[in-house]
Amino acid sequence: MILEGKSIVLGVTGGIACYKAVDLCSKLVQAGASVDVIMTEATLEFITPLPFQTLSRRPVCIDMFQLLDSMDMAHISLAKKADLIIIAPATANTLAKLAVGIADNLLTTTVLSSMAPLVLAPAMDAEMWEHPTTLENVARLTERGAVVVGPGAGRLASGRMGRGRLVDTPELLAAIRQTLGRHGALAGLEVVVTAGGTQEPLDPVRHLGNRSSGRMGYALAEAARDMGARVTLISANVSLEPVLGVELVRVETAAQMQQAVLERRAETDVLVMAAAVADYRPAQRAEQKIKKIGGELTLALERTEDILDAVAASRTDGRPGIVVGFAAETENLLANAQEKLERKQLDLIAANDVTATDAGFGSLDNRVTLLARGAEPVELPLMSKFEVAERILLQIARLWEERYGKLPR
Ligand code: CTP
Repeated sequence: MILEGKSIVLGVTGGIACYKAVDLCSKLVQAGASVDVIMTEATLEFITPLPFQTLSRRPVCIDMFQLLDSMDMAHISLAKKADLIIIAPATANTLAKLAVGIADNLLTTTVLSSMAPLVLAPAMDAEMWEHPTTLENVARLTERGAVVVGPGAGRLASGRMGRGRLVDTPELLAAIRQTLGRHGALAGLEVVVTAGGTQEPLDPVRHLGNRSSGRMGYALAEAARDMGARVTLISANVSLEPVLGVELVRVETAAQMQQAVLERRAETDVLVMAAAVADYRPAQRAEQKIKKIGGELTLALERTEDILDAVAASRTDGRPGIVVGFAAETENLLANAQEKLERKQLDLIAANDVTATDAGFGSLDNRVTLLARGAEPVELPLMSKFEVAERILLQIARLWEERYGKLPR
């Protein structure tokens, strides 16, 4: 996970939303980051340093001139060690200072002394956010490379509805992870991932589906985002939360999924077909709900198109550069997967035994074997789907470099 072992400076400025930064601090620590919190004096009017200190297990820095144990000046040492600085909430006042380089407290001084990526999460009343001065300051900061997340719209502390809310913790975490990963192993690549089990309608209220949860595809999209790729997730799943920072294209049927994949094919560098695509669909979709009529009902099914076959047939221009498939098998895992690798002209296939009760369909974990052309199979142990996704994507990054050279990071 990208936050493991990272040094994050969390700047908290004096807005009513500053209590929400406590949750962010907690989630960052849980994800393995070491967090140094800098509060501005104004923040102390709203909350005390105690929750931050307790959660981060480190002293909270407030005053630029406080006496330090070491000879390091706080702003210099924090500025140097930070892998990323996030300010949440960022008030209009702090944004204005940062825009012009005013360094009159520990936080602004630290930002000015640091080359670390900067994520800003503004929060203020809507009038302040909409003021041309604030918008201009934010535009300047964005131009210089700061990542601005939010503010969100909704009910504000003033009682008014409008834009000015600090975005929620998951969105802050997604922005941090995406920013940390922007020079990662897949930086600069367009990655398309398909996910979920397609649903083939039978009548207006019924469909033929399968037991795929979509989790493997969603984990791949999230992990690819964290490795710097621009990601599109073509999903036939309706229940999972969208992955922040990833373009979501919703589809239902195999035909819609095929269309979505082929429409993007020429711009796709890496295609990962994690979806469980129906091989058959009802030959006829009834206009009205099918009534029970006693006795048996026989459904006529027809073949769907094989999306990977269609991709292989149109890949004469070399796009996508790398195509990856999954093989969900109940028997002869490796032989079947090897046969699919060849037949579907894949560069890599992830084979999983879907009869396992501790992994695969519906589970949070997966156990896969990776097969690439001309290489020995790599058997991965049981691990979370996110970890499996990371391993598959690292293998993809290696294949890319072997074939197309180093990526510009
Ligand atoms: N796939 C596809 N189009 C289909 C069916 C499957 O592109 N109509 C893709 C899946 O997304 C997966 C790979 O092909 O990446 C293998 O899918 P799988 O269901 O294991 O294989 P099938 O080709 O359907 O073969 P079978 O069902 O006979 O095992």
